[in-house]
Amino acid sequence: MLIRLFLLLCLAVAPLHAAQPPASAMASAHPLATEAGFEILDQGGNAFDAAVAVSAALAVVEPYSSGLGGGGFWLLHDADASRDVMIDGRERAPLAAHRDMYLDPRGEAIPRASMDGALAAGIPGVPAALDHLAREYGRLPLSASLAPAIRLAREGFAVTPHYRRMAAFRLEAFDKDPEAARLFLRDGQPPELGHLVRQPELAWVLERMAGEGADGFYRGAVAERLVAGVRKAGGIWTDKDLAEYQVVEREPVRGQYRGFEIISAAPPSSGGIALVTMLNILAGFDLAALDEAGRAHLIVEAMRRAYRDRAEYLGDPDFVAIPTERLLHPFYADGLRASIRMDKATPSASLPGAQPVKQGDDTTHFSILDADGNAVSATLSINYPFGAAFVPPGTGVLLNDEMDDFSIKPGVPNAYGLVGAEANAIAPGRRMLSSMTPTFIRSDDQLMILGSPGGSRIITMVLLGALEAVDGKPPLAWVARPRVHHQYLPDVVYHEPGAFDGPARAALEARGHALLEQPTWGNMQAVLWDKARNAVDAASDPRVEGMGAVRAFPAP
Ligand code: GLY
Repeated sequence: MLIRLFLLLCLAVAPLHAAQPPASAMASAHPLATEAGFEILDQGGNAFDAAVAVSAALAVVEPYSSGLGGGGFWLLHDADASRDVMIDGRERAPLAAHRDMYLDPRGEAIPRASMDGALAAGIPGVPAALDHLAREYGRLPLSASLAPAIRLAREGFAVTPHYRRMAAFRLEAFDKDPEAARLFLRDGQPPELGHLVRQPELAWVLERMAGEGADGFYRGAVAERLVAGVRKAGGIWTDKDLAEYQVVEREPVRGQYRGFEIISAAPPSSGGIALVTMLNILAGFDLAALDEAGRAHLIVEAMRRAYRDRAEYLGDPDFVAIPTERLLHPFYADGLRASIRMDKATPSASLPGAQPVKQGDDTTHFSILDADGNAVSATLSINYPFGAAFVPPGTGVLLNDEMDDFSIKPGVPNAYGLVGAEANAIAPGRRMLSSMTPTFIRSDDQLMILGSPGGSRIITMVLLGALEAVDGKPPLAWVARPRVHHQYLPDVVYHEPGAFDGPARAALEARGHALLEQPTWGNMQAVLWDKARNAVDAASDPRVEGMGAVRAFPAP
C-alpha cells in the first residue's frame, strides 16, 4: 500500500512528457524548400523523407548554397530506434588529387585554382546521401521525395534579393564558364528580381535519380557527362571516382552542458568537437553572474582555444588519427580554462602555433521534426557562393569548390610564421575538413535542433545559439542573437552591428581585444520540441529569406 502511494505521488509531481510532438516543424533557408518538406510529410513521409525533399529542393532554389554537386552532413534522430547517427555525405578528393596540386613550381598557391572551375571540385556526396536516407530511413521512394524538386527545376523559381547578392559576388568566376553563366545569369549579370530560373537539365538528373537511385547520378549517362565536362575543363575526375563514392554513417560527437546533452557533427567536420570544447570551457564559469563584457570575454577566449585545436588536430578520421576522446574530455577543457585570465585577452600568438582556419562561407542548413519525434539537423554545402561556378554541359549540376577547404600548403609556414594543418592535407579519396555543425541539444524536457551556414563562423554561431537555447529562450532568440566570432587567427573579435553596447565595447578593448564590426552573417534555422509544455516552435534567421513553420498534422 505504501509503495503504491509513493508511486502515485511520484506520478503526480513528475512533469508530463509528451511522447510525440503535437505538430511537425521545419525551418529552412527558402520557403519553397520548407513547403517541399511539408508536402512530403503530408504524403505520409517521415522526417527523413522530408530531409530528402528539402535537400533536393534547396539544390534547385538555392543554387548558390548547396546542390547535387556538393556535400553535407545529415544528423538524424531515429525515434523508434532511439538512436542518433550522422550521415557523412562530404565530398572526397578525386583519386588523382595530390598534396601540391594547387601550388606552382615555386611552391606558391596558384590564385583561385582551388576556388573556380573544374579543378576545384571534390566528388559530390549529396546524391548518395539522399539515396541512403530514402533507402535506410525513409518511408517513401525517391520518386516521391524528389518530386517537388523536379517540379521546381522544370517550372522555375523566382530570383530573390539574396540570389542577386550571391550572383553579384561571383560574377568574376561566372566569366570563366559560359554554361554556368547561361543557367544562372542574364546577359552576364544577376537576373532581375522575380525572373524565373528554370533548370531542365537538373530536372533530368533528378529524374534519373528518382528512377535509379544513386546510380542515376554516379553511373550511366549523367556520370559520363559529368566526367567528360570536368576533364574537358581541366579537371581530374574519372568514372571510378564517381562509381566508388560512398556515404559513411558516423557516430555523432557528444558532450554535456548544464544538464543538456549536446549531439553534433563528427569529423570530418570540426564542428562538433570545437562546439563541445567551447561549452566544456564555459561550463566552468557562471556566465549569468557576469556583466555583458565579462561574458563576451570568456566566450571569445573559449572560441580562441577551440579554433587553435581545430587547426592542429582535425581532418578526415578515415586517414588521420584524431585525439577525439582527449579533446572532448572535461579534464582537457579544465586545462584550457586554466590559461584564461579574467582581466586580459590571451594573445593568440602566445598559444602554440597552428595554421588558421580558412573556409568558404556559403552553405545551407535545415531543421526538421516529424509527428513521431524523428528529427533531422542537416548542413549542406557547395562552399563559395555558386560553388566553383562551373557546370558540366548537359547536366545542370553546379559543382562545388570544396577542395579549397583542404590545407593547400600543409607543413609550410604561412603568413603568420606558423606551421600546421598536416591533418587536413590533400590526399586521394580524402574528405576535406569542414566547419558544418548540425546539432541537437537534448534534455528530458526538450529537443532543440539547430545549425547555420557561414564557413569558419558556423561553429561560433551554433555556440551562441546553443547558449540562448539552454537559457530557455525561444528559437527566434537563438537565430536572431547578434553574432560575435573569434577563430584564433587573425587575432580579432569580429562582431555584428549592435553586438555590444558602448560600455561593453570599451571594457573589452581595455582587456586587449581588437574588435572589428562587420556586416551581419549566417542563416540559422531552428526547431524546438518542448516536451514538458507539449509545444513545438520553429524559427528562421531574420537576416535572410528562409521560412520556419509549425504545421498541424493532416487529417487522417
Ligand atoms: N565549406 C564549408 C564547410 O564545409 O565548412
